[in-house]
Amino acid sequence: MPNIVIVGAQWGDEGKGKVVDVITPHFDVVVRYQGGNNAGHTVVVGREKFVLQTIPSGILHPGCRNIIGCGVVVNPASLIDEMESLVQRGVSLDGNLYISKNAHVIMPYHPALDRASESKAGKHRIGTTGKGVGPAYVDKTARVGIRMADLLDERLLREKLEYNVAQKNRLLREIYDAESFAVDNILSAYLRYAGWLAPYITDTALLIHRWMEAGSSVLFEGAQGTMLDLDHGTYPFITSSSTTAGGACTGSGVPPTRIHGVIGISKAYCTRVGNGPFPTELSGDTADLLRMRGNEFGSVTGRPRRCGWVDAVGLRYATRINGLTGLIVTKLDVLTGIDQLNVAVRYRGPEGASFDEFPYHQSILHKAEGEYIPLPGWDEDISGARSLEELPQNARAYLDYISDFLGIPVVMVGVGPGRDEMIWTGAAERVRPAAA
Ligand code: GDP
Ligand code: IMO
Ligand code: MG
Repeated sequence: MPNIVIVGAQWGDEGKGKVVDVITPHFDVVVRYQGGNNAGHTVVVGREKFVLQTIPSGILHPGCRNIIGCGVVVNPASLIDEMESLVQRGVSLDGNLYISKNAHVIMPYHPALDRASESKAGKHRIGTTGKGVGPAYVDKTARVGIRMADLLDERLLREKLEYNVAQKNRLLREIYDAESFAVDNILSAYLRYAGWLAPYITDTALLIHRWMEAGSSVLFEGAQGTMLDLDHGTYPFITSSSTTAGGACTGSGVPPTRIHGVIGISKAYCTRVGNGPFPTELSGDTADLLRMRGNEFGSVTGRPRRCGWVDAVGLRYATRINGLTGLIVTKLDVLTGIDQLNVAVRYRGPEGASFDEFPYHQSILHKAEGEYIPLPGWDEDISGARSLEELPQNARAYLDYISDFLGIPVVMVGVGPGRDEMIWTGAAERVRPAAA
């Protein structure tokens, strides 16, 4: 049975939530493998809209088991809110949600440090979501982090908290002039959360292994996107985790030999929230049109997203880094009515330099601009199309151009936010490499 990774091919918000929801019926298990409640994955079912932050987007399908893997950082209060809100809306969490005992915990001092460091960063400000995700990963790599299993051992939790709170309070007070924290307050709140979450905390790597042995198919749900990856993204304007396909292995405990395909998701154009280079960024009327039509406002922070043309150089990079075997293109409907669509196939750097690949130095990437191939647009409303044949010729040509440029098939096309507003292209069976 195939195990497939779904990964954002741009700077996040490509439509991972919708896609995971749509393809979950083909899988038994969905695993979130990195990130935290900085993610906002939207699933639209009829008139209802769900925005999932830490819980995998397979949760709306009762037969599917959902795992929060060891690579995720968990804010317990936010997770409990998310769980309660799902239950209130009639979604069952009985026996279908599991949290890795090794996942690190976002503590109250993490968002405080996140916001304090951003407020002092001046022009180096990243524009984080302020959820404390970066500082939680800092503690993980510094080997002082608190893990989900630690919440179940009061003595150990107190010991780790005393060490951390003393250290973070000095940082907060002396470097950032910010408020400090008291161990006892955190301890009592987190013991309460532990009581709530204890039934869900387990050795998820072992569970996934056993389920795979029994023939289950696993879908790995990435958060953020390739260009926000800690190693391969537009550092330092990135998030602090491995968002790319390799992260699916380390963030779940599943070896690379058990992964059979990697599907990238891209919008038919491009967006970015937060600071950092964006070579195909637009300003003016077309940017406003994309933002309004595509409802490009952050699912977590509500910030307007920066908008631009699709960046085929970036997508080819994502294809290489992730080993993409197929591409899903979302929000094609948003481009309807734009006369000329531009696809960046190269970058122009300072002093006329031309780049076929990402310039090796970030200061060049900051100044790079897309060099475009213009393609004709279409005027027809495509939101009702359910097959490629129902798309206007120019829309098909646009998809073909991107697919040819990357050398991988387009597996699915999104033509609206709803569950059924998409086209299967018939290429799905080609996403598995021949050897698998
Ligand atoms: P994610 O973080 O990758 O899951 O993406 P977000 O949920 O943050 O942002 C994607 C937005 O686009 C959401 O509001 C979705 O409902 C919406 N969306 C997804 N696919 C399509 C599509 O094909 N067409 C349109 N118009 N909206 C879509
Ligand atoms: P999903 O999973 C888009 C961006 C932030 C900021 C940078 C670092 O919904 O696609 P962080 O809080 O992670 O330290 O912020 O990363 N960012 C996202 N942008 N979609 C996301 O998630 C994002 N998660 C973080 O805007 O630029
Ligand atoms: Mg999002």
